Amino acid sequence: MHDANLIASASGFHAWDAMAPAALSGILKRGPFHSSAETGCGGSTIVLSHASHRHIAFAIEGKDQTLTELRRQTDLRSENVILVEGETRDTVPAYQFEGELDLVLLDGPHAYPLPQLEFAYLFPWIRLGGWLVLDDIQIPSVYELFRFLEKDSCVVLEEVIVRTAFFRRVSVAEHGPDGWALQGMNRHTIWRYSWRDRLRRLLGRS
Ligand SMILES: C[S@@+](CC[C@H](N)C(=O)[O-])C[C@H]1O[C@@H](n2cnc3c(N)ncnc32)[C@H](O)[C@@H]1O
Repeated sequence: MHDANLIASASGFHAWDAMAPAALSGILKRGPFHSSAETGCGGSTIVLSHASHRHIAFAIEGKDQTLTELRRQTDLRSENVILVEGETRDTVPAYQFEGELDLVLLDGPHAYPLPQLEFAYLFPWIRLGGWLVLDDIQIPSVYELFRFLEKDSCVVLEEVIVRTAFFRRVSVAEHGPDGWALQGMNRHTIWRYSWRDRLRRLLGRS
């Protein structure tokens, strides 16, 4: 299938909930992938079923019967897709991954801290040089994760297409069980709550 036709068909599926066509093209152009995963499903699943040999989508049926309708789509290469039904807070932590992922798309539930929880469980599986794609960064709970990633040395921001951010994994360094001080977002403590301690240290008092 021609790329332009694939994008047109995918972005027409549940168009009210779909990613921007340019963002779907942004995923497609980074492929082909050996293995990938996404939270939520829709046009992106159709695109990734063509771009990836083994794609896992974690999603609920929802009021729009998305899973049922997706299974009916003739453009979906179902032989390349595993649909895992259920809330991601349950399904993602329980899933037994078989190996590294080339790309992970987070576009399932957007309520805080669900994108953050999905990130915690899925990010370790992304290979060095693989992509983390974050859709709907206009939503403050998702934007918070975007801001964390922007400051972190484990990824670089390649581009933002409309409201979808494409990060590339550039480090596999582990920060240990509580390496908060090594995270970019924690480089500076919150002055309002830390000035007393800093002043005490400056004056040489414990
Ligand atoms: C914005 S849509 C995804 C759009 C899709 N990426 C596309 O390109 O068309 C959000 C999806 O997340 C699913 N969803 C919402 N809450 C969920 C949850 N708690 N667990 C799993 N999936 C959820 C919805 O059913 C829907 O399929």
